[in-house]
Amino acid sequence: MAQVAIIGAGHLGVVYAAGLADLGHRVRVVDIDARRVRDLRRGRLWFHEPGLPELLRRVRRRVDFTTDPAEALAQAAFILVCVPTPSGPTGDLDDSMLRAAFDAIRRHVTVDAIVINKSTVPVGTAEGLFTGTGLRVVSSPEFLAEGRAVTDFFHPERIVLGTRDADAGRRVAELFGKLKAPVVHTDGTSAELAKLAANTFLAMKVSFANSLARLAESLGADTDDVTRVLALDPRIGGGHLKAGIGFGGSCLPKDVGAIEHLARDRGVSADLFGAILRVNRDQREHVIARLAEGLGSLVGKRVAVLGLAFKAGTDDTRESAGVYIAERLLTLNALVTVYDPIARIAIVYGATKASATRSALAAARGADAVVIATDWPEFSRLAPPSLAKAMRGDLVIDGPGALDPVAARAAGFRYYGFGRGGRVTAAPAGAGPAPRRSARRRRS
Ligand code: UGA
Repeated sequence: MAQVAIIGAGHLGVVYAAGLADLGHRVRVVDIDARRVRDLRRGRLWFHEPGLPELLRRVRRRVDFTTDPAEALAQAAFILVCVPTPSGPTGDLDDSMLRAAFDAIRRHVTVDAIVINKSTVPVGTAEGLFTGTGLRVVSSPEFLAEGRAVTDFFHPERIVLGTRDADAGRRVAELFGKLKAPVVHTDGTSAELAKLAANTFLAMKVSFANSLARLAESLGADTDDVTRVLALDPRIGGGHLKAGIGFGGSCLPKDVGAIEHLARDRGVSADLFGAILRVNRDQREHVIARLAEGLGSLVGKRVAVLGLAFKAGTDDTRESAGVYIAERLLTLNALVTVYDPIARIAIVYGATKASATRSALAAARGADAVVIATDWPEFSRLAPPSLAKAMRGDLVIDGPGALDPVAARAAGFRYYGFGRGGRVTAAPAGAGPAPRRSARRRRS
């Protein structure tokens, strides 16, 4: 059993706190946000993460939360740094919170502690910011995905320990010893680059899948069948190959931006990295173009956006396709209704705002078009005839491929499914809302 301190009670810090406590360690988490700390002491989480509330309840005797760095850090043998490093204006990572964390560690640590950096940092931080501090630092990037972070904690694919201090590397490996995973011992710079590289590779797969979907669509091929063929080759792997409205969240866009910035900074080609982001941006604009094409004009048209979370399993709306599309539609003077099973956000543009509803069908009521933006399982359970009955128009743009294209078309929809078959027929320029048609005529 070890005494562990964690700086930062964000998504990452709280998962690590609960996970390490479950492995038998004693954990103290420090955060500057007093309200967050108060909530966590009462067992309340402000974000959605499946399994985490139950895990926190189970380990509550071994974890506590404080705003006092001295209390958290003084006796800790291991200190995990889990602070945010948001994107700076040119794609570089802002490390000001990381610097503040290191200042606090230098001030309050009294024992020979090992600092484990979990934050995604600008590459070179380990060999720059950390050196000369007198602290023993191990760069150990995390690979938890939102919505499955608890499972990812207990079943990591790998543990990366970047340090030139072999003894520190060995001791951190022991700290996580109960987790059965390959351990990669390397230097700090390689560990930091590995984190950006892993997320960039995942993003590249998504942009690849989306570019492929466009091609499949132009040929009348089914993109899901094509990627299924790719997925069966273990050299390619099946993850992150699902076409849709592109990747969002707080990690993939930020990390691809960071690696592109880094490549430019080092004077090496950033072309591939830049292309990943361009394809991703274009995918979202493609939805707007499809809507404009299908509705003739967007002014005054009613569009329902289903899904505001950047993916299923989370209430996180950062860099979400649904939010982007709702915002863009408002700027184009469309009337927007939104629905998400758990994410709550007010989407406002000038004097107009998107109206939030309590169900997918309520959002679709009276809509000229529906955009499914998030892969929530409940959208796959929507019966196309019920959706058709609720709407006044007949246009469906299905990002994650939630609906069966055949059933959607049978219900009379003009269905666009990102390479999953179905083309949007353009309405004549200036056309008003599509007239409601009977189910019988829709099938014709
Ligand atoms: C990502 C990585 O998957 C984690 O390994 C990493 O630890 C984390 O970033 C991080 O750096 O903290 P996350 O941001 O939670 O995790 O999201 P992903 O599951 O990777 O999904 C990212 C985006 O890609 C989502 O918008 C998702 O809808 C989209 N996506 C994913 C697709 O469009 N197609 C796919 O096939 C898979």
